[in-house]
Amino acid sequence: MLTLPKLPYSYEALQDFGMGKETMEYHHGLHHKAYVDNGNKLLEGSDWENKDIEEIILGNFKLDSKSQNGIFNNVAQHWNHCEFWKMMTPKKSTMPGELEKSIIDSFGSLSNFKDEFVAAGVSQFGSGWCWLVKDSDDRLSITKTENGLNPLCFSQKALLGCDVWEHAYYLDFRNKRPAYILNFLENLTDWEYVSSKL
Ligand SMILES: [Fe+2]
Repeated sequence: MLTLPKLPYSYEALQDFGMGKETMEYHHGLHHKAYVDNGNKLLEGSDWENKDIEEIILGNFKLDSKSQNGIFNNVAQHWNHCEFWKMMTPKKSTMPGELEKSIIDSFGSLSNFKDEFVAAGVSQFGSGWCWLVKDSDDRLSITKTENGLNPLCFSQKALLGCDVWEHAYYLDFRNKRPAYILNFLENLTDWEYVSSKL
């Protein structure tokens, strides 16, 4: 049973940081809620009904890794959005030293990291996500995934994920996806939360 989480802040809390109240009302209250409602309808009476979320995602990814099935799409998008809300904060967030060191070790500089993250999100054709992930060898890397796919499917740990579906940014940034992603990194990301997942 999927449950729409309460946000850790109000719908208008991110307004001054580039993500408006109307975006949040639609994104959390309608889009995320639809993944939860549709996922629950599909899960009811299925073999997956009482499994945990990550088991459902991985199991359905293995069943149908090319054109994802309805259970996968809705449950993975539920997981992605639960993480996305926690990855943002209206409080001023500074990057903890341990995370900064890991990023510089992996990408050469913070500026390179930002450039690569934005480029991944911009080059994701159509809907999807860009991610900062920790690989099985503990290196950090940047990936992009289409639709509801996420790092769990590729045995990676998601440290940071940015939703690049148009519903995430069109009301605030129109067609300027690069500006939306850069703003996400510079004004919205909760770096303490990201660092806690190292
Ligand atoms: Fe979304």
